[in-house]
Amino acid sequence: MNLKGDINLAPYSYFNSVSTDPPMVMFASDGRKDTIDFVEETGEFVCNLAVWDLRAHVKDTSLTFARGINEMEVVGLEATPSVLVKPPRVKASPCALECKWLQTVRLKDIDGNPAPRFIAFGQVIGIHIDDNFIKDGLLDTGAMKPIARAGYQEYFVTARFFLKFTEAHKLRAQPRAKKTEE
Ligand SMILES: Cc1cc2nc3c(=O)[nH]c(=O)nc-3n(C[C@H](O)[C@H](O)[C@H](O)COP(=O)(O)O)c2cc1C
Repeated sequence: MNLKGDINLAPYSYFNSVSTDPPMVMFASDGRKDTIDFVEETGEFVCNLAVWDLRAHVKDTSLTFARGINEMEVVGLEATPSVLVKPPRVKASPCALECKWLQTVRLKDIDGNPAPRFIAFGQVIGIHIDDNFIKDGLLDTGAMKPIARAGYQEYFVTARFFLKFTEAHKLRAQPRAKKTEE
């Protein structure tokens, strides 16, 4: 959302969690686009998890629309109000993160020349999870079928985990021996 209240929605696969506590996320923009401009204008944004059931909407919202056009409306996605930030979230997304913008880093190439690549960082201040994906009190990520980016322009659906770290793993790990000064 920008200061005028225009709503914007687009897929960003250059997205990741970068800090657990406080929870922080990032997305990278190839050039100045509406998303990063709007985020910097209001200091608020929402990350909606892209999942298999929303794959057609993910593709459709990636098309270039004129600034001010609400992609949610155009592709028929219902918006629902957020709790702690002004931009609404996508109702059909099973997981949404309400974020406050922290900073944008403009990348430089190895010669120190600024590249048209911008990484925006935000702190997560609110989390929505569809109760249908809570199993035995824990989030069942696989059941949400999140979409992940692979090479080229290929996107995969993730449904199974293969490794789970538990407290027992942490306890079994031996602390490293301290190096003694000669
Ligand atoms: C699945 C998918 C993932 C994408 N990820 C990114 C990305 O990480 N960064 C980026 O700059 N563009 C990405 N794009 C392209 C943008 O979604 C596209 O340029 C869009 O029009 C930007 O909209 P905006 O101007 O409203 O921000 C992606 C497109 C698709 C289909």
